[in-house]
Amino acid sequence: MMTLISEDITSSAKIIHGDCLEAMSLIPDNSIDLIITDPPYNLGKFMKGRGTNMGKMRNNHFAYSGWDDLDFENWCMQMDVFLKECHRILKKKGNLLIFMSIIKVETIINIANQYKLYYKTVGIWHKTNPLPRNMNLQFVNSTEAWLHFVNDATTGTFNNRGKVVHDFVESATINNSERKFGKHPTQKPLQVMCHFIDLLSNEDDVVLDPFMGSGSAGVGCKLLKRKFVGIELSEEYYNIAKNRIIAGK
Ligand SMILES: C[S@@+](CC[C@H](N)C(=O)[O-])C[C@H]1O[C@@H](n2cnc3c(N)ncnc32)[C@H](O)[C@@H]1O
Repeated sequence: MMTLISEDITSSAKIIHGDCLEAMSLIPDNSIDLIITDPPYNLGKFMKGRGTNMGKMRNNHFAYSGWDDLDFENWCMQMDVFLKECHRILKKKGNLLIFMSIIKVETIINIANQYKLYYKTVGIWHKTNPLPRNMNLQFVNSTEAWLHFVNDATTGTFNNRGKVVHDFVESATINNSERKFGKHPTQKPLQVMCHFIDLLSNEDDVVLDPFMGSGSAGVGCKLLKRKFVGIELSEEYYNIAKNRIIAGK
């Protein structure tokens, strides 16, 4: 067990430095309106095994970040505890939005199904300017999946305001202003986080990101007037998130 350090960094944002499974166990039942998160994708070992052309990128490649190193069985166990906790702490009808590698989508759906997390949608985030790694050898990876579940009900908040919302989001990767306080190898663009926070929660709702990274969900919550709780294991990323949320960018 590691010590959890918790700070109220604004009037509506609390962030916790430590292991999210431990921190989530302390969150009361039925207290969260939306969980939006980007957990390890269980691709670290897979990518290292392949290794092609990654030498120059190691400092800023998630496969070498140290937080996605579990073997498949242990990662499934971690996701099992995580999703069970999501069910317990989400309110009935609360939304869960998880980003995921496309090849692990079915695993997540199968685990979530055990915990009354009602599967709604799998969608795609398309990055319009991915690194053109190995572009002369293969299709350049430019997509990630996201999954939407509703807790213990078939529908929850969905603020489409009468418009058709496709299961596809598109954006460039992050711009420099979002890197002002430091770099995270898998930082999500604010634009993408705000899209989901706006659709799946309301003003003053409580939003949790248990794998907060550089805090993009927390910045989105500040801009959209939601209360935010974030958890991050790495001190470096915790501090980036803290500075970003306080600055609101
Ligand atoms: C995919 S990244 C999240 C990136 C984030 N969405 C952003 O926009 O910056 C996953 C993060 O989860 C953190 N992490 C991994 N295991 C964790 C755990 N058990 N508890 C809390 N954080 C964890 C990693 O340090 C990493 O920053």
